[in-house]
Amino acid sequence: MTPAQTQLWRSLPNVSEHQHGHGHDGHDGHEGHDAEHHYTQDYWDERYGSAEKIWSGNPNPQLVAQVADLTPGDVLDAGSGEGADAIWLASQGWRVTAVDVSPVALARAATHAAERGAEIADRITWQHEDLLSWSPDRQRFDLVSAQFMHLPQPELAGLHRRLAAAVKPGGTLLLVLHHADDLHVNVGRPSGHPHLFPPPEEIVATLDPAEFDIVIAGAVERPATDVDGQPVTVKDTVVRAVRRS
Ligand SMILES: C[S@@+](CC[C@H](N)C(=O)[O-])C[C@H]1O[C@@H](n2cnc3c(N)ncnc32)[C@H](O)[C@@H]1O
Repeated sequence: MTPAQTQLWRSLPNVSEHQHGHGHDGHDGHEGHDAEHHYTQDYWDERYGSAEKIWSGNPNPQLVAQVADLTPGDVLDAGSGEGADAIWLASQGWRVTAVDVSPVALARAATHAAERGAEIADRITWQHEDLLSWSPDRQRFDLVSAQFMHLPQPELAGLHRRLAAAVKPGGTLLLVLHHADDLHVNVGRPSGHPHLFPPPEEIVATLDPAEFDIVIAGAVERPATDVDGQPVTVKDTVVRAVRRS
């Protein structure tokens, strides 16, 4: 990874934070970290340890929209952060396996779940794994969701293939990433690094067409707030696919 890519990854969590309704990037104080650290436990533990809360606590809008028509079952939330998606999924009746590289994030998320009561907390298993190498059990989940997991290639494609392998026949794979068009919107995204914002067709190309039907592969708009606090429309890349039975 180049120094410029380091800068990008440093800003990505803040961009997502911003879109979830918090401030904007540039306040995390992680100057000087090597890029490879940005996918590691040390980096994320330090980042989560730097504030009591770095995300909004709200579930991601594309997840909420795409899951609405699914029957609850077993779901894998890959890169679960502070747990808002996992807790929301549990509240909808899903049995959740929530995976993250950061024990600090996992502990915080488990606390939030416990605060919601046993009915929610008991439906969630918080699991410490490195998604750069961890392979979930094959065909184990009715839904596999990864929200804003940005990695360089070929690591991203490898992650998506492992996540796809974990989807049951008839189950759904949901991959949501920031869209490259927003590099030119005033939401704090670094321009000049579109390779970390792959288009939907590049993501779809990692899936075996003999195994998956593509339900959605495109850009979905949603309202957000720009770095000056003004309302703005951003785009998420959304890929939703179903494993053939
Ligand atoms: C941009 S945040 C998104 C969090 C959450 N999905 C959301 O949308 O709020 C990326 C998450 O991925 C986790 N992560 C980063 N690298 C990872 C890795 N190698 N293995 C597992 N999780 C990782 C981070 O700890 C962080 O919680």
